[in-house]
Amino acid sequence: MVESSGDAGNMRIVQDQTLKTFRARALQNGHVSPMFYRPKDGHGLPHSPFNAIVAPRPIGWISTRGPLGDNLAPYSFFNAVAYDPPQVIFAGDLKDTIRNVQDSGVFAVNVVTETLWQTMNATSASLPRGTDEFMHAGVEKAECDTINCPRVAASPATLECRLQQIVTLEGNADFLVIGTVTGVHIRDEYLTAGIFDLAKVRPMGRLGYKDYVVVETLMTLNRPD
Ligand SMILES: Cc1cc2nc3c(=O)[nH]c(=O)nc-3n(C[C@H](O)[C@H](O)[C@H](O)COP(=O)(O)O)c2cc1C
Repeated sequence: MVESSGDAGNMRIVQDQTLKTFRARALQNGHVSPMFYRPKDGHGLPHSPFNAIVAPRPIGWISTRGPLGDNLAPYSFFNAVAYDPPQVIFAGDLKDTIRNVQDSGVFAVNVVTETLWQTMNATSASLPRGTDEFMHAGVEKAECDTINCPRVAASPATLECRLQQIVTLEGNADFLVIGTVTGVHIRDEYLTAGIFDLAKVRPMGRLGYKDYVVVETLMTLNRPD
């Protein structure tokens, strides 16, 4: 635990001492990791391992409507964060998606499957502002029901979302978008006996580097009561 101190300098000294103690103890116990880095000092590896450590991540394929037209782009800094009401988050810098969400106050999250994988990737291209990635990547559009926003017709499920809040993240280049789900589309063929059939959906997840994973093996586990 790091002790809290009102003084930033003292705080750093306490943190340094705490880390040294942790590492010395770990060494004694033979548990030390040969690799340790502080992000602010760089990792010294060919590529940052951060995204590979936080993996797999679901991909939110975010569709929006802005003053210059419709937009579609994948975001893997994405997740569900609450049930009641259902809420989701995604994060990125100030590109078309977040600009459109700021303007319109809504967005939709489309599920990416193995069959939509390459198409999803095509929608991540850096294109001039106002380019409709649905058109660019040949994605069939459908309209959302509860919000004025396009969605991916072929996606097994789409979450229609109302913007709750945009939080400026540390570093000032990135923003966290928080949305409340106002409508849920599920294509009939992906419902098996009332269950959203992930073995049929085969959703893609993002790993580190250029790697992805497809969900194909489901394992069931009961929680202890
Ligand atoms: C699988 C995947 C995940 C991505 N995740 C993010 C992300 O979480 N945040 C981000 O800023 N960009 C992310 N990108 C890059 C954006 O999709 C890309 O910059 C895109 O051009 C943004 O489009 P926009 O300007 O229409 O919003 C991701 C790209 C891919 C292929």
